[in-house]
Amino acid sequence: MLNNKLNKMKKLAVNGGVPLRDVKKDPWPAWPVWNENDEKALLEVLHSGVWSYNGPKEKEFDRMFAAFTGVKYAVSTANGTVSLQLALEALGIGYGDEVIVPGLTWQATAASVIDVNAVPVLVDVKEDTWCIDPAEVEKAVTTRTKAIIPVHLYGSFADMDAIGAIAKKYNLHVIEDSAHKHGGEWNGKKAGSMGDIGSFSFQLSKHLTAGEGGMMTTNNKELADKLDALRNCGRRPETEEEEVDKGAGHYSDEGNFIQSGNYRITEFQAALLIEGLKRMPEQNRRRDDNARYLNSLLEETPGVLPMHRDPRETKEAYFNFSFRYDREEFKGLPVDKFREALAAELGIDVEASYEPLNQCSLYVPLTKPARYRINEEHWKAIDPSRFNLPVCDKIFHEESVCTHHKILLGSKEDMEQLVIAIRKIYDHADELM
Ligand SMILES: Cc1ncc(COP(=O)(O)O)c(C=O)c1O
Repeated sequence: MLNNKLNKMKKLAVNGGVPLRDVKKDPWPAWPVWNENDEKALLEVLHSGVWSYNGPKEKEFDRMFAAFTGVKYAVSTANGTVSLQLALEALGIGYGDEVIVPGLTWQATAASVIDVNAVPVLVDVKEDTWCIDPAEVEKAVTTRTKAIIPVHLYGSFADMDAIGAIAKKYNLHVIEDSAHKHGGEWNGKKAGSMGDIGSFSFQLSKHLTAGEGGMMTTNNKELADKLDALRNCGRRPETEEEEVDKGAGHYSDEGNFIQSGNYRITEFQAALLIEGLKRMPEQNRRRDDNARYLNSLLEETPGVLPMHRDPRETKEAYFNFSFRYDREEFKGLPVDKFREALAAELGIDVEASYEPLNQCSLYVPLTKPARYRINEEHWKAIDPSRFNLPVCDKIFHEESVCTHHKILLGSKEDMEQLVIAIRKIYDHADELM
């Protein structure tokens, strides 16, 4: 009885209080976004009977994406995991090589490296952006290092000037994992245009999506041809004249094939991506406007910190919106309790960052000895627990608060509501102790 009475007096939604937002009456913007043009494009593919294999939609999307990203070549593929793997293969990276990757990223960034028999070297990130720390990259370079894979994580950019300078100094390749950054710009240059190869994902959660899909971008013709062959069972792309002669899908020069598998995208995916890419610049602009406004409010809000935005980030793109939490200021309230309370107030998912890769439940190479135990030295080298990632650890366990990018498609009032919710939890933190 007494407990019931006390509960009634509680203010926070997570404790049975009234949530700030009634999502039944006032839903958040939906994701994915689609309209009758997507329906039309999908039906066009359906009726054409050309459902895959270098079809007109795939070619059109590749051209559009290259132009949008400001690169000479774009080669679409099945997803943003194989795009990384094929990028490594195109650069000739394999057994005996080391590749430096950030400790805070989706597992694919490192998993693609072990899948080409190379060793992922995990390095720590910067606390204010959660992106790879160039100072840690430089410390990790050895005579075996062949490449760096910076990840532009969530709403931040890896420092591409510093990464570029290290790559130049030690003669390393750069693969820009831009799975979160379609359309983002660093000093006026698009994500995915600054390294040897850019890699993108079009998985459902991404801000350009076809449910699944991936893309590889480059300015190097030789690499583009290799990437094209690698995603298509090793068939060399034909020249434009050959294409005109025989129609799409024919390949010449039999002696020139290379070993690979099928990593092709379908025409249905390409159709959705063409329509999505027409909408994305406007959506990115809206998300960036809202994020700037929200960050300016977070600056003034006790107990939280916006992510650092470098002045060189001329356009930001958001896979999700994240900010930093300060437990001390919330009277010792653990961040997971804060995230739960925020989710309950707003009716949205509020999550931690990715798990650091030295303790990530989905990055466990030592569970696959038949594939990865090439020899004892390699087996030890790919053990993620040998890396020390204190900043990643702090971010994941103590600081990170992440929400879906769809909230950034809302109104200014929606942004204000998020801050009001944080204030409410701050004022009633005692209820959660
Ligand atoms: C940073 C990063 N890299 C790579 C990937 C892999 O992309 P996909 O899911 O399309 O395979 C993801 C997907 O979440 C990602 O977030």
